Amino acid sequence: MKDFRQQAHRLADWIADYLEDPGRYPVLSRVRPGDIRDALPARAPERGESFDAIFSDFERVILPGVTHWNHPGFFAYFAITGSAPGVLAEFLSAALNQQAMLWRTSPAATELEEVTLAWLRRLIGLPDAFEGVIYDTASVSTLHALAAAREAAVPEVRAAGLAGRADLKGVRVYCGEHAHSSVDKAVILLGLGHDALTRIPADAEFRMRPELLATSIAADRAAGLLPMAVVATVGSTSSTSVDPVDEIATICARERVWLHIDAAYAGVAAMVPGYEWILRGADRADSLVVNPHKWLFVPFDLSVLYCRRMDVLRQAFSLTPEYLKTSEGDAGVRNLMDTGIQLGRRFRALKLWMVLRHLGADGFRAHLAEHMRLARLFAEWVDRSDRFERVAPVPFSVVCFRLRGGVPDEEHQRVLDTINASGEVFLSHTKLDGRYVLRLAIGNLNTTERHVARAWELLNQAAASR
Ligand SMILES: Cc1ncc(COP(=O)(O)O)c(C=O)c1O
Repeated sequence: MKDFRQQAHRLADWIADYLEDPGRYPVLSRVRPGDIRDALPARAPERGESFDAIFSDFERVILPGVTHWNHPGFFAYFAITGSAPGVLAEFLSAALNQQAMLWRTSPAATELEEVTLAWLRRLIGLPDAFEGVIYDTASVSTLHALAAAREAAVPEVRAAGLAGRADLKGVRVYCGEHAHSSVDKAVILLGLGHDALTRIPADAEFRMRPELLATSIAADRAAGLLPMAVVATVGSTSSTSVDPVDEIATICARERVWLHIDAAYAGVAAMVPGYEWILRGADRADSLVVNPHKWLFVPFDLSVLYCRRMDVLRQAFSLTPEYLKTSEGDAGVRNLMDTGIQLGRRFRALKLWMVLRHLGADGFRAHLAEHMRLARLFAEWVDRSDRFERVAPVPFSVVCFRLRGGVPDEEHQRVLDTINASGEVFLSHTKLDGRYVLRLAIGNLNTTERHVARAWELLNQAAASR
């Protein structure tokens, strides 16, 4: 590329400006379906174009179609931050273009992953027996965890598969009523069949009821089925409820069933003093997923699977064709291709390392604690309001609330559409106990009390004028 240095400087300036103030854009893109597609030619250019022309189209066509996840008014789903050190790491990672399939193809990516994941493991208080591996998303981490559980539970599954087996009446996986849909997808993809997943009912605070888990496992065993795994959630997607991991771990140990913990969003909160309890019992789990791209300020994507039985995961996935054999063999090196379905993998550990070093453990604790303080403050406003009511506890940085007085779902939808059209804030919804619920999620480093107060003001205005 001609003038690469000049363009790189220009881009770095643009990125620095953007990260300094992403709030200058409307948080939610205002394009309509098809707008971006229609503004672009149907075929790739025959001749190469200048970077000036490309960048001007980036600003003119692409940028308006961006929903700004880095915006301080982003309160939808789980709010996240692509922090500056992580963004710079991505820049470096792209330039280095590492494929960390074998230790040899990237000693740095392989060993930095080991080091950073040990740092994170100690921060959240998991024992050293857990070995970590980085994947792209929690969905993929959970898929791998359940593949390992299948390897552990079903004899000869790697060679014989599941189909047409006289020795196997059926396999069962259990999760809470409020577990994430990635568990369903993993069960489907692993060939267990969606019917193999049993959702255990929740208590009034949306936590899995362990006594019903125990009953369900016992009934399945009596029916000749094979209980394979339980997925407990620490920080469920809708309400951030925390399943009673300790009690669930006791059941899993007794029943010899793989315990996987989905702590994709909230697991990092265990590093905040006073929040250690959320992972109580996790030391007895077989695997746990936590997503630094959710609430640890690492740019998307980076998910970590910690596994206490990594040998089983390797047994499920390792396969070395001749062209990938190296003289190091297995002697003292990890080959990351052995711990998953992917062969090539990006150098994701670099951004985790840079963000961990730049913010430091103290920085993380302070930011997470502040996000939780803001959520509690917002919850207090809701509790004092005669327009809105809170519908779930607020253990972390998410508040679930509704309009008071049995207002129909469509009216909630209208309030949401009205405030999201402002461009200042973006909230999303869920359903709890069958009712439409508004959700305010805090997780961006740029979000301050002022932004939360503005969201509250807009909500009240929209509710008043409906
Ligand atoms: C509890 C939980 N688990 C898993 C996921 C899936 O995350 P990912 O997008 O990393 O696959 C989510 C997404 O929000 C989640 O909330």
